[in-house]
Amino acid sequence: MKIVFATGNSGKLREASEILGGGFELVTPAEMGINEEIPETGSTLKANSRQKAEYLWDRCGCICFADDTGLEVDALGGAPGVHTARYAGEDKDFNKNMDKLLHELSVIETEVRMASKLGLSMKKVSRRARFRSVVTLIIDGEKHYFDGTLEGEIARHKSGNGGFGYDPVFLPDEFPGQTLADITEEQKNGISHRGKALRAMAEYLKGRDM
Ligand code: IMP
Repeated sequence: MKIVFATGNSGKLREASEILGGGFELVTPAEMGINEEIPETGSTLKANSRQKAEYLWDRCGCICFADDTGLEVDALGGAPGVHTARYAGEDKDFNKNMDKLLHELSVIETEVRMASKLGLSMKKVSRRARFRSVVTLIIDGEKHYFDGTLEGEIARHKSGNGGFGYDPVFLPDEFPGQTLADITEEQKNGISHRGKALRAMAEYLKGRDM
C-alpha cells in the first residue's frame, strides 16, 4: 500500500518504514513535489499532527499520515511538550535543544540543593519524562488518530550515536542505564512512542476492507 508520510526527517522515515514493514511503501512529500515546510502551528500534538496530515490530503487526496511528537519533562511542568522541536530556537538544532534541556534541569537541581542546605526543602528533583506521539491518518477524507508513549528519565549527559533528536538524553525504562541512542534501532522501534502509534495504525489499515 502506498502511503504518504508528512516528514522530511530521514531518521523518522527510516524508523516508520521499519515499523510498518513490507506491506507499506512510504512516500515523502518531496517525492510528491511538495517541497515547502509543512506548517505546524497548533497548540497541541494532536492539532499539529492533524494540521500536517490535512495539508497533505488537501494537495494529494491520497492516503497520508503525519505524526507529531513531544517530550514532556515532569520537573519542567511538562515542557518542552508541543515546543519540543524548537525548544532552543527556530533552527530546530538537536544539540542545542538537548543542551538547553540538560542545563534547565541542572539549574533546578542546583536551586533545590541550595534550598536543602538552608533547610528550606528536602525535595529531590525528578528527571522523569516521556515521549508522546500522535499520528493522524487520512483515508477517504476521514481522519483517524493513534497514539503512543514511552516512559523514561532524562540522562545527565548525552550518550550514544544511534537514533535522532533527543535520543542521546532519554533513558527508557525498558533499558536501564542506556539511552535511546545507545540501543539498536530495532530495540528502539520495539518500545517507542512512534512504534506503538504506527503499529496501531498498521493494524487498523490491515483490518480495513480495502
Ligand atoms: P516533530 O514531531 O517532528 O515535530 O518532532 C518534535 C521534536 O521531537 C523534534 O525535535 C524531534 O527531533 C523530536 N523527536 C521526535 N521523535 C523523536 C524520537 O523518537 N526520539 C528523539 N527525539 C524525537
